[in-house]
Amino acid sequence: MLGQPSILVIDDEEVIRDTFKTLLERESCQVGLASTAEIGLELARKQKFDCVLLDLMLPGIDGLQALEEFKKFDQDLPVIMVTGVGTSENTRDAFKKGAFDFLQKPFKNEDVLVRVRNAVSQRRLVDENRALSQNLQAHSSHYSNIIGGGPRIRRVFELIGQAAPSRTTILVTGESGTGKELVARAIHANSTRTAQPFVTVNSGSLPADLLESNLFGHVKGAFTGAVSNKKGLFEIADQGSIFFDEIGTVPLETQAKLLRVIQEREFMRLGGVETVKVDVRIIAATNVDLRRMVDDGTFREDLFYRLHVITIELPPLRERREDIPLLVQSFLGKYGEENGKKDLEFTDEAMQLLEGCYWPGNVRELENVVERATVLTSKSIIDVDLIPDSVKSARSFQLPTFDLPPDGIPFRKIIEEMEGHLIVRALEASEGVRKHAAGLLRIKPTTLGEMMKRYGIQNRWKKRVDTEKVAATKVEFSSSDGSGSAFGNTNTKDAVADFKDMLDKRLNLPD
Ligand SMILES: Nc1ncnc2c1ncn2[C@@H]1O[C@H](COP(=O)(O)OP(=O)(O)OP(=O)(O)O)[C@@H](O)[C@H]1O
Ligand SMILES: [Mg+2]
Repeated sequence: MLGQPSILVIDDEEVIRDTFKTLLERESCQVGLASTAEIGLELARKQKFDCVLLDLMLPGIDGLQALEEFKKFDQDLPVIMVTGVGTSENTRDAFKKGAFDFLQKPFKNEDVLVRVRNAVSQRRLVDENRALSQNLQAHSSHYSNIIGGGPRIRRVFELIGQAAPSRTTILVTGESGTGKELVARAIHANSTRTAQPFVTVNSGSLPADLLESNLFGHVKGAFTGAVSNKKGLFEIADQGSIFFDEIGTVPLETQAKLLRVIQEREFMRLGGVETVKVDVRIIAATNVDLRRMVDDGTFREDLFYRLHVITIELPPLRERREDIPLLVQSFLGKYGEENGKKDLEFTDEAMQLLEGCYWPGNVRELENVVERATVLTSKSIIDVDLIPDSVKSARSFQLPTFDLPPDGIPFRKIIEEMEGHLIVRALEASEGVRKHAAGLLRIKPTTLGEMMKRYGIQNRWKKRVDTEKVAATKVEFSSSDGSGSAFGNTNTKDAVADFKDMLDKRLNLPD
């Protein structure tokens, strides 16, 4: 049973009330008892219950009327109607009035528990969603559409807030799909330039001369086809911001000219002789390591330092999994509305899966997966089947094949060793966040906790610095000695080492 659920039992027969009480208290529920609907309603107005077991036939206000009253002040309260035989007419009415479920007397204990459990988890889910929506509003209001509430993204918000008002050049770094453009726009929107243009430059595969003509404009006759003067993007962005998406793709020769604009705030149109002065804020983004490009000689060092004044690093989604529920909630709302589908939600299992995925395409990929599921679903509850296999197996894992040695193997011991290593790996991959580690292994966090206890695995990954990674992994789980070979090796230690290597490769984890 979940947490400490509170259940209200309303029945005029004392023996029934007592039966429910004993049964539910054995399941660690708090139980409130009422012999009439009037008393029950009064209790529920004072105290929040997770579920009500409501007798249909009651003296005074009857079950159906009471149900209506409950719904008036607590719309989401799950009410299970307790009925006698031959009351199917009333049953239908009660469903129409919003009853959660039915229980027919005489009832079996297990039947009661199953229904109450369902009701309580439904209640919790609704509460959680409500809290999420509030959270979502709180976190999304500040930087309009950048969703997130975890420490990593909060640091990004802080930097945007600090850097936006100035004219300083800003470099935004991060893998593809982490939200670099979103951040660039937020910087502009939170600056004094917000009413002025925000111009995006995608240098992409443009040859240098064409890119330069786009950036700086040209004068009539500057080249064949230049039939009139043309303003470049820098002039168009005057007083506003110019955003260089993928600055790493700007050709070396154009980089020199860019440096001059950053330093002097002036340039010449192609073929022109006059300098043009502009007041432009430069924001650049990259998903490649510019420092490495400097080392390779493909990016100018002086430009690198000019851009590097303030750098905002966007973490990959897998390093800020705590934001996944908020993001999912936001995308469900957005695409739900676009597709005319209301109150969409993922099942717990699907949500766990989403929180545990590797997300090489980051937020963009998550957004696409949620959009796809929203379009395809025919129900409001979306399950794992609508999450594409490619996402599920982004960090695919296959069991190794191995030979069974003629003298056999200590089966249980080896399975335990494997379990231990899988747990260590999952904890490491989720930086010690148990919920996420459990999600990666598709087990409940409580089960993970029990297994960690059983194998003496301590969670030392949390807040660990990178350099400690290796050491921590090596000491956390020391394999016990054993004879026999699981992977063609002569002892279990070697077999486990092989298994660990195999895992490293499959999971693509650092050594
Ligand atoms: N924190 C976030 N909250 C909400 N949506 C986000 C967030 N981060 C990214 N997105 C969404 O993900 C998608 C990709 O974002 P964006 O284009 O800003 O990423 P990018 O880092 O510029 O990617 P690329 O390197 O591929 O250009 C967009 O649809 C954007 O709205
Ligand atoms: Mg981008």
